[in-house]
Order: sequence, then C-alpha cells, then structure tokens
Amino acid sequence: MTAIRNIVILTGAGISAESGLRTFRAEDGLWEDHRVEDVATPEAFRRDPELVQRFYDERRAGVLAARPNPAHEALARLDREWDGELLIVTQNIDDLHERAGAARVLHMHGEALSVWCLACDARHHWEGALLDGPPCPSCGQAALRPDIVWFGEMPYRMEEIFRAISRADMFVSIGTSGAVYPAAGFVQQASSHRARTLELNLEPSQGSHWFEETRLGAASVLVPEWVEEVLGD
Ligand code: APR
Repeated sequence: MTAIRNIVILTGAGISAESGLRTFRAEDGLWEDHRVEDVATPEAFRRDPELVQRFYDERRAGVLAARPNPAHEALARLDREWDGELLIVTQNIDDLHERAGAARVLHMHGEALSVWCLACDARHHWEGALLDGPPCPSCGQAALRPDIVWFGEMPYRMEEIFRAISRADMFVSIGTSGAVYPAAGFVQQASSHRARTLELNLEPSQGSHWFEETRLGAASVLVPEWVEEVLGD
C-alpha cells in the first residue's frame, strides 16, 4: 500500500444536503423546479435576467441560513492536521467548507457569496440581493451578475485542479452524482496516475465503476469515519 501524501477531494451538493441545502438531481432537486436552461446559462441571463437574479438571490439567502455539518467539519479537521498536500475542489457554491474552517478550498463552479461586475470585471463578496440592480462597489454601474459558472462557461482554475490531481496519490469524491463534466472525469485522471480512488455517496454515482472503492451512506457519517481512518494511518 503506497503511503498517502497528496490528497484531492471533490465535493458536490450531497455534502451540503444535511445542512439543508437542496441538491440538483434528487426527486425534490433544484432542477425539478427550474430547467437549467432557464436559470443557469448565459443565454438565460440575457433572456430573463430577473428570473436568474431571483434564483441566485434565493441560493445566496439559503447559504447564509445554512450551517456546516459533521462532513464539512471533518474535512476542515483533515485540512488542519494533514501535513501533505491537500486540495478540496468543490462544485458547490456554498461557503460551508470555509465556515467549518477549511482553508485549501477551490470553488470550480464559483460562489453564491461572490458577485462579478460585467462593466469593470471586479468581483466582490456579496450577501444581499441582486434583483434590484445595486451599483458595483468599484465602478458604480448596475452591472453585477452572480459569480457562478453557468452551463456553457469554463469552470474556474482548471489548470490548478489538473496539476493537483496529477500529483495526488489519493482522490476522494463526496456527494456528487458524477453527472457533470469536467468534474465527473477527475476520477479517470486520478486513476490513470495510479492514485487510490474512493467514492463516498448516498447512492452509486454515474461514475462509480471508475472508483476502486465506493462506500454508500450519508456524508455526515462516512466522511468523519474516513478522516479518522486516514489520519490514523
Ligand atoms: N450524503 C452523501 N451523498 C448525498 C447525500 C448525503 N446526505 N444526499 C445526497 N447525496 C448524493 C446524491 O445521491 C447524489 O449522487 O449527492 C449527489 C448529488 O448529486 P447532484 O444533485 O447531481 O449534485 P452535484 O453532483 O453536486 O451536481 C454537479 O451540476 O447542476 C450542476 O453546477 C451544478 O455543481 C452542480 C453540478
């Protein structure tokens, strides 16, 4: 068994489900209420900016009302105590990893609490609504959009993610359905570098067959158990 030095963790909506934040593809998922095409694409924003702003105003308010759960707290403990390389790549737009205390976090799909000015390109931490077109703190123009990567847009910091995976000897996927690329392909890159691959999920994901090991259950139970295991090794 090769010693584990460098770990990459991919998290998805499932890790925040027990914090009360809805996932996307469950029967009560977000994409049941709204078609992706209507709220999560640049075309949707051009077509109906108010609908899109309202959708993300709701997401932002939900994130502020949520609290980290034991899974976020366990990853934050791992981040504090792990002296090798560690990167938590999250598809989630909530800040629950950070609020649990994790530092080495990368939001590849953007962040609910960040806004991006289409007039001056500045980004700002933002907790309020965008529906009524507030002025950009930098340039004063009413040109703020959610700093979220929509379908058809490039996820953030992909080079950094690929570099981390190429150095990883352990890749762990937590709470994601494996439905959306490029995140769903990370496990294949990791296993091509002979990294160990582990999936922690409520049910088998679309990519389960790529993982050496899949453990089924709630993140709040599986993640603390796994962190205990890997710190104890
Ligand atoms: N513990 C562990 N896993 C869970 C839990 C839980 N308590 N609850 C749900 N899950 C699992 C589900 O079984 C499912 O496989 O989390 C996964 C959530 O899948 P999705 O809803 O598809 O969310 P995600 O994989 O993060 O979606 C990826 O798609 O819509 C885009 O940009 C959006 O980042 C999102 C991306």
